[in-house]
Amino acid sequence: MRDRKKMLLIVLYTLLLLPAFLRVDSVSAGPYLDSAHGDILYGVDRNTIDGVTPFPDYSKGNCAHCHEQHASIEGQTTAPSDYLLFYDNYISQTDGVCFKCHDNTTTYAASAVVNRSYSFRAGGWTTDTLNDILEAFTDPPSISSHNLGNIQSFIATQSWGFTSNSNPCVACHNPHSAQGDPENSPNTAKTSASRGWPVSRPSLHSTDNLAWGLWGDGTGEKMSDYAGALIYQAPYRYNSTTTFEPDGSNTQNGSNLTDFPTFCLDCHSNSSIDFIDWYAATGDKHGKMAADATGSNYLDIDTPYTNANGGQYVLSCTDCHEPHGSPNTRMIRKEVNGSLLAGPVTTTNGRETGYLCRQCHTDDRDYSSSGSVNSWEYVHHCAPDYPYSQSSCSNCHGAGLARVVCGGGGGGGGGGQPIDCNNCHFHGSDDSWAPASLRTGRGTF
Ligand code: HEC
Ligand code: HEC
Ligand code: HEC
Ligand code: HEC
Ligand code: HEC
Ligand code: HEC
Ligand code: HEC
Ligand code: HEC
Repeated sequence: MRDRKKMLLIVLYTLLLLPAFLRVDSVSAGPYLDSAHGDILYGVDRNTIDGVTPFPDYSKGNCAHCHEQHASIEGQTTAPSDYLLFYDNYISQTDGVCFKCHDNTTTYAASAVVNRSYSFRAGGWTTDTLNDILEAFTDPPSISSHNLGNIQSFIATQSWGFTSNSNPCVACHNPHSAQGDPENSPNTAKTSASRGWPVSRPSLHSTDNLAWGLWGDGTGEKMSDYAGALIYQAPYRYNSTTTFEPDGSNTQNGSNLTDFPTFCLDCHSNSSIDFIDWYAATGDKHGKMAADATGSNYLDIDTPYTNANGGQYVLSCTDCHEPHGSPNTRMIRKEVNGSLLAGPVTTTNGRETGYLCRQCHTDDRDYSSSGSVNSWEYVHHCAPDYPYSQSSCSNCHGAGLARVVCGGGGGGGGGGQPIDCNNCHFHGSDDSWAPASLRTGRGTF
């Protein structure tokens, strides 16, 4: 390991000391010049060596804005960190070299770097106020975020060429290739007129940084490829029923969306962290496993999804999750399928989860104008394929108030106290929480 690191440093010294590499505009075309960081018009641009001393006048995009030649730059003493970076590669959830620029300040960056949530960029929710990456990883405003320390130790245990000093952001982004989507447009959503590709797959990482390509830009790397013979249906853009994620065009089959399940499952198919099974028969119904909805068993689903395709849909992780962090638990997006969640999801042990589900499924209000928002009697007791008869209410609802009875099952009064959704609905779930004689054994996620 030490030898390998030494070798990398030698390569790095050599590259940085070569005058040709100090002027990035003279580097021949390649992934770096096509990247957001290497762009000579809007790429990396640092204004200080150490937070105090002014930075010399290197052109935008020059490697030296991130990497420092040992000992001095134009006479100023520098104290380079790992990989000769101007600041420690990783310190904590809210501190490390990437946050020195991606924090919407000019402490290090010559002009503030503004970034957005996935709900903003892909969902088109352009009134979201989150405007930098540091914020997304900070609690509050986020209440859940990808744990960078856990990611750093996880990638070091895989045979992907990372070490225990690797930058956890670099698990998902190649700093020498990552592109803006859109580029150089802090305040606009993705657009089909100009696309870029920000992520790289961790399992394809190579320490020859130019050999580690982007993910999503090539053939075979789109959501339509992942769905294969099944169907990916793009959710609506915010406030629209005619434009779709991720780029606001009317493409709906995921041929313009990065295959995120394959990307996320590089890590999340490992049982040492949260394990998600998005594949066939044993997996999730939101993944490749078919919903029970066939024949007269209907999905209780909202547009643009339709019953006609019930059992064939496969979703992208990013239809429900932010990639960095969010003001909901488990990085649940605030904007899903065209509108904002009607309430927060701030507990993993409650019925607030229903605010997410109702973005795509029929709650009692969707079913009838006299029904309540985030009440779920219709789906569980009244729909054509309802799972539960309305009898022996207290077996599931506990003792409680009499409530509306829709007559879907055996009739009778009593019960109706709301039940925590998470007893039965989470990745990999069935309804084994219910009393043995009443459970259906159906997959419930
Ligand atoms: C688990 C993987 C993962 C990690 C870790 C991660 N990101 Fe991301 N990042 C993503 C994904 C996915 C996107 C959205 C890609 C898309 O829109 O196609 C994204 C988007 C971005 C964007 C573009 C945001 C915009 O304005 O559109 C930036 C900048 C970024 N990440 C920086 C970082 C930084 C800095 C870190 C570390 C603090 C980090 N990321 C950690 C997966 C990750
Ligand atoms: C946005 C900041 C940034 C810029 C600009 C940048 N690098 Fe890097 N570079 C990094 C980071 C961060 C690492 C450490 C990656 C890790 O932790 O795995 C790194 C690592 C490296 C390495 C070690 C091998 C590897 O990929 O892990 C080399 C060599 C390198 N950079 C060369 C360059 C050259 C040459 C340029 C200009 C053409 C450049 N870098 C521009 C951030 C940058
Ligand atoms: C020296 C300042 C600086 C540092 C350090 C830096 N970035 Fe950036 N980054 C930028 C700038 C400037 C852009 C281009 C912003 C734009 O598109 O207008 C950018 C763009 C990006 C993009 C493309 C999305 C976008 O907003 O255009 C990603 C992804 C990204 N950076 C990730 C990282 C990661 C990961 C690190 C740490 C390894 C890092 N950056 C470190 C300045 C920096
Ligand atoms: C580089 C590896 C890696 C990739 C890629 C990755 N994750 Fe994670 N993810 C982790 C680790 C590590 C944790 C923390 C797990 C733990 O501590 O048990 C985590 C945790 C999570 C959590 C739980 C957060 C919480 O509040 O507990 C969610 C949700 C999540 N990831 C979603 C995603 C999604 C969606 C993607 C793809 C866009 C993704 N992950 C890609 C490594 C990864
Ligand atoms: C982004 C849209 C979306 C969201 C949000 C969503 N679902 Fe779904 N759900 C679907 C689609 C589409 C299907 C059909 C999958 C198929 O065809 O195999 C489905 C299927 C299901 C099924 C299987 C139904 C059957 O007949 O087998 C269950 C159960 C389910 N969802 C529960 C939930 C719960 C609980 C939530 C909230 C935590 C939720 N869903 C959130 C889109 C969504
Ligand atoms: C239909 C919406 C939806 C989709 C699509 C979705 N998730 Fe989730 N995910 C959730 C919800 C809701 C929770 C929280 C469940 C709970 O409270 O325990 C969750 C929780 C998680 C967690 C935390 C651990 C756990 O099991 O609860 C991880 C990790 C995760 N999701 C990763 C993924 C990945 C990876 C994908 C794509 C392969 C994905 N999710 C697709 C809704 C979704
Ligand atoms: C096998 C378990 C089970 C039994 C038995 C059962 N229910 Fe339910 N019921 C559910 C589930 C699951 C939900 C959906 C979660 C929720 O809304 O609380 C639900 C929802 C409801 C709701 C909507 C509550 C809300 O505001 O969301 C009413 C009303 C209701 N049931 C009435 C009854 C009555 C009355 C009985 C007895 C005559 C009964 N249920 C028996 C499982 C059961
Ligand atoms: C006792 C277990 C249980 C609880 C608790 C429960 N559900 Fe369900 N839910 C089920 C079962 C079983 C199905 C039917 C799955 C199927 O059709 O294969 C279902 C179906 C659903 C569906 C999919 C409807 C469709 O066919 O498209 C949604 C959405 C849903 N539930 C939401 C909720 C919400 C929100 C809560 C909490 C307020 C909740 N459920 C509580 C067992 C439960």
